[in-house]
Amino acid sequence: MESEMDPLKVEILPDHQSSPYTFTKPKSNPKKSIILIIVASIVSFAITLGLLFVLAPVLLSGWTSSFRYSAVIDAGSSGSRIHVFRYWIKSGKPVFDFGAENYASLKLNPGLSAYADNPEEASVSVTELVEFAKGRIPKRSLKESDIMLMATAGMRLLDVNVQEQILEVTRRVLRSSGFKFQDEWARVISGSDEGIYAWVVANYAVGSLGSDPLQTTGIVELGGASAQVTFVSSENVPPEFSRTITYGNVSYTIYSHSFLHLGQNEAHQRLWESLHKSAANSTEDEIVTDPCTPKGYTYENNSQKHSSRILAEESRLTGSLQAFGNFSKCRSATFAMLQAGNENCPYKHCSIGSTYTPDLQGHFFATSNFYYTSTFFELHEKDWLAEMIPAGRRYCKEEWSKLKEKYPTTKEEYLLGYCFSTAYIISMLHDSLGFALNDGRIEFANKAGEKEIPLDWALGAFIVQTSREHTSDYSGKSRKMVGFMSNVAKFKV
Ligand SMILES: *[C@@H]1O[C@H](CO)[C@@H](O)[C@H](O)[C@H]1NC(C)=O
Ligand SMILES: *[C@@H]1O[C@H](CO)[C@@H](O)[C@H](O)[C@H]1NC(C)=O
Ligand SMILES: *[C@@H]1O[C@H](CO)[C@@H](O)[C@H](O)[C@H]1NC(C)=O
Ligand SMILES: *[C@@H]1O[C@H](CO)[C@@H](O)[C@H](O)[C@H]1NC(C)=O
Repeated sequence: MESEMDPLKVEILPDHQSSPYTFTKPKSNPKKSIILIIVASIVSFAITLGLLFVLAPVLLSGWTSSFRYSAVIDAGSSGSRIHVFRYWIKSGKPVFDFGAENYASLKLNPGLSAYADNPEEASVSVTELVEFAKGRIPKRSLKESDIMLMATAGMRLLDVNVQEQILEVTRRVLRSSGFKFQDEWARVISGSDEGIYAWVVANYAVGSLGSDPLQTTGIVELGGASAQVTFVSSENVPPEFSRTITYGNVSYTIYSHSFLHLGQNEAHQRLWESLHKSAANSTEDEIVTDPCTPKGYTYENNSQKHSSRILAEESRLTGSLQAFGNFSKCRSATFAMLQAGNENCPYKHCSIGSTYTPDLQGHFFATSNFYYTSTFFELHEKDWLAEMIPAGRRYCKEEWSKLKEKYPTTKEEYLLGYCFSTAYIISMLHDSLGFALNDGRIEFANKAGEKEIPLDWALGAFIVQTSREHTSDYSGKSRKMVGFMSNVAKFKV
């Protein structure tokens, strides 16, 4: 079993890499050289013997060392990340391992949506990502390695024509990349696909894929432009929120929804916009306060220093808006945003806006920005939601200049977000979705399981796509591994 699970220890270097064993000419005396040669011979003999010993069971069992490779580009709102995977096939099924030898990723900022005004420029970052992947894949394997690009909320927010222009630029790069690629592999995926993929990788990581549906782990993810809620529900979920996944002979009916515009950056920007509007409307001696920004922060001065969309937006703010951090007020303001439209809820129950949400069931991981804010404040895994409130209260009421002194290495752009994010997290998870502050069922995480697999939806996308590919190869003799069905639309690769 050991040698099957761990064939990588005896990996032969991919042929595009130069040998790490470069010998320099010995400058020392001949005697020393002879000793060195003898020592080297003994060592290499021992290594050969060792290799044979390790390889023997592998060779005898007929296992052939053929790695496969695949790359997935997650084109998110704040940046694009390429994930490069190496896997292998055993008994007709793909075997995954997300350790450092088999998985690598690289992220480049900004996201593709930043090229809305100049789609052509998107090719530069995609080219760089492709080059990174090619550096990790042997040349001979490249044309059999899939490359896909899946864009999420940042792109979903753009006009369809603009989306398509940007995608077309990326397709041109991918077509000539040397990878196996089809045009439909570069696409904008739906928020619920994203949620389902995140659910798959989480349950794969903790080993619950294939077990009792009610023993699975749900995902709440706070992204930059959208937020996803995905979990197995035994309620009668309306079809537009329901997805079905099969793994082996187990079928999972999953509630999955992506709340567009309610990602952390997007929500923060919308709050700023509405404050700006009321400030612009206010009379000269009236001051509108921003409860989600620590006092002493001046809006006008920072616009040039940062390229982020949020800060660029600020340059348009008028002087009658004043930062005056107050956690309770910020919490109320964000709660109002999350509840907007709730009076029009057409379902039995809407936790956020007028969107159906079933009662919470099972265990949950809170990922992405939930994780980043929690680790920034060094919250404890157990009581993190309860601890978020005093942490946010202290942070929000602090002077901006003191915060900059206290966290000299943190980017200002991030520091500017933490008062808002603490309040937003509490109003989303506790005030809206109904997690108790001491609810042990929800933990923040960005990795899970013994192998600490990253809780990144792109890994789930890779698992689903690769499993499906190998299901069709062996459909005659082996059962389905991961099937993926939707009540709404057939999932298209
Ligand atoms: C799935 O099939 C296996 C045998 O192939 C069986 O042992 C197991 O109980 C089945 N699980 C469910 C949930 O039906
Ligand atoms: C701002 O003023 C305009 C008209 O002057 C009005 O229609 C709008 O409702 C006002 N907005 C706010 C937020 O007060
Ligand atoms: C911001 O700009 C104003 C004038 O434009 C200046 O008086 C003030 O000192 C600046 N503040 C900082 C922190 O640079
Ligand atoms: C923050 O706002 C709340 C509610 O409006 C108010 O009761 C409290 O006094 C404010 N805190 C500070 C420090 O101004």
